[in-house]
Amino acid sequence: MKLAITGKGGAGKTTIAVFVARYLAAAGRDVILIDADPDANAAMALGLAESVEPRPIIELKDLIQERTGSTGSPGEFFSLNPKVDDIPEQYAVESNGVKLLRMGRLKKGGAGCFCPENAFVCALLSHLLYRKGQVVVLDMEAGIEHLSRGTARGVDMMLVVVEPGRRSIQTALLVRRCASDIGIQDVGVVINKYREPKELDYIEKQVSPLPVLARIPYDPTIAASDLEGVCAYRDTPEQRRWVEEILSGVPVRSP
Ligand SMILES: Nc1ncnc2c1ncn2[C@@H]1O[C@H](COP(=O)(O)OP(=O)(O)OP(=O)(O)O)[C@@H](O)[C@H]1O
Ligand SMILES: [Mg+2]
Repeated sequence: MKLAITGKGGAGKTTIAVFVARYLAAAGRDVILIDADPDANAAMALGLAESVEPRPIIELKDLIQERTGSTGSPGEFFSLNPKVDDIPEQYAVESNGVKLLRMGRLKKGGAGCFCPENAFVCALLSHLLYRKGQVVVLDMEAGIEHLSRGTARGVDMMLVVVEPGRRSIQTALLVRRCASDIGIQDVGVVINKYREPKELDYIEKQVSPLPVLARIPYDPTIAASDLEGVCAYRDTPEQRRWVEEILSGVPVRSP
């Protein structure tokens, strides 16, 4: 199963990515959580200490040069298909069965993967998205423009986290419009941090016809965990139910 999670800043993408990852790891699946948001911190949400956080892949300069055959000179030829299969093993950090990889900030300028660093990160992403039996949860930054067509096609579903608020709903509608352009067929909404049932009705109407897979209320224990620097996922029946609701709406294309 391969899931990508997006939504407006602060809506709860990382929290939900961690919930799904922890749930599936507890169910015995091989789970890789990819922190693809350069400004966010999935490591912290997993409760990992700063000292053991994984290194951003994009910063592994020597390794990237060696694997892509890049010399750093302008106009050079380098491999768009470098060896990456040993990278998760070497650079992921595990927490409660979830293997965390950090992508780091992709280089700007020029669309797609046309510098050695971006090519390397994209190759790794593709490798994981097409690996059989591998659960991949991609914690993304707001928006989807950084997902290329090639990699996006490996994603079973794009989840958009929506909190009550017009800007959050706007983001969901934008994702809906753009998803098919990059080859993502299914987009589902997770409503997060609602406080009143009437907020649910409002959001559901606004995002229609996108399916709403789960409705997660504002939960002070989640906010408190963040402040304490511990993982908010405690495997409680309620948390499991939220994740099960999400997963039951995901079309399974890859095992
Ligand atoms: N259901 C919830 N109830 C209460 N607090 C929540 C809930 N979901 C998330 N939060 C809190 O909201 C804040 C933002 O959540 P999170 O970091 O998951 O969002 P994000 O979308 O990944 O943000 P960013 O765009 O910065 O990456 C965190 O402090 C988190 O603990
Ligand atoms: Mg985040």
